[in-house]
Amino acid sequence: MYHVSIIGTGSYVPERVLSNHHLSKMVDTSDRWIIERTGIRERRIAGEEETNTTMGMIALQRAIQNAGIRPEEIESLVIGTNTTEPVWPSSGGPMVEGLGLRKDIPFFDVQAGCTGFNYALAIAENSIKAGQYTTVAVIGTDKLSAITNYQDRSTCVLFGDGAGAVILRRSDQDGLIRSYLGGNAGSRNLLLLIKKNGSPNGYISMEGRKVYIFAKRIMVESCLRVLDPAGTAGKSELRALFEQVDKIIPHQANARIIMGAAEEFESRLGLPDGEAKEKMIMTIEQYGNNSCASIPLALDLSIREGKVKKGDLLIFVGFGAGLTYGANLVRL
Ligand code: UT7
Repeated sequence: MYHVSIIGTGSYVPERVLSNHHLSKMVDTSDRWIIERTGIRERRIAGEEETNTTMGMIALQRAIQNAGIRPEEIESLVIGTNTTEPVWPSSGGPMVEGLGLRKDIPFFDVQAGCTGFNYALAIAENSIKAGQYTTVAVIGTDKLSAITNYQDRSTCVLFGDGAGAVILRRSDQDGLIRSYLGGNAGSRNLLLLIKKNGSPNGYISMEGRKVYIFAKRIMVESCLRVLDPAGTAGKSELRALFEQVDKIIPHQANARIIMGAAEEFESRLGLPDGEAKEKMIMTIEQYGNNSCASIPLALDLSIREGKVKKGDLLIFVGFGAGLTYGANLVRL
């Protein structure tokens, strides 16, 4: 089996800022409620002409530049997204053409709710580990504003738009160590879905509180399972594994979910107060929940801001509609 590393990252957010203040003029909400309940102050909203494809393309272009490779070196393009319009063809075709990638490479969307980037990364990781490819591009991109009902205060305050990308390459280092993916069909399948409600694309409909409870628990479990795939480690072994992790980059759905999960790590593993909280990367205050983009965007920003650095051990952990969940253990 081959090893694989992340050799470049890039991201993009639209220029338009939608603040809590502005939202409070659109629906019955307030800056205070949104900050206290979610940690979000503002989010970015794509322009009319912008799509998950155009945003993903800019993020990928930046990742290619950052990796210092030529576009023709990319052999496969995997895109985590939920907002391709229309659903076919994949959002990747225009990216391949627009960025001068080889026209015969495979490109496809992975639709797994907000866990789409974790899933896409795992697929790409395994294609390199198996020896199928040497260089693969992975994108997380979403335009949730296109499927958000701006008359529904329980959802419209949460979501924003954006994109992030990584370039993976076969390497001597064990960069993408392993991934752990899961799903939760059945009754939970209906907790977060698109309902038509007379609009052409439909709108996001969510039982927020139930998703919240699930999300906090599954974030902790996904992180522990990616550290201990057999699920056999005792408390002290898990604690030792967790202490080796430098930072956790979680899906940015709600600051309270992220901090709640950190508290659960601390109580379950007997860690000093604050040790898990300090590991959590948060971009939610500025960008809200931009679905598949949230993890690769946070990764790219964290690298630029020096919050994570080469050699750090990271966990990317996500959850979303399905309900799906997953984590990737990465040595940067
Ligand atoms: O990407 C993955 C998918 N999404 C998520 O992970 C989101 C998970 N869920 C959440 O983040 C939280 O459940 C929410 C932020 C959506 C809601 O926060 P909450 O603390 O769970 O509030 P709640 O749903 O229990 O509602 C509390 C109150 C309700 O009023 P009453 O019934 O107590 O009078 C809501 O109607 O807050 C009300 N409310 C609002 N008030 C002002 C709901 N949304 C708003 C709002 N502004 N925007």
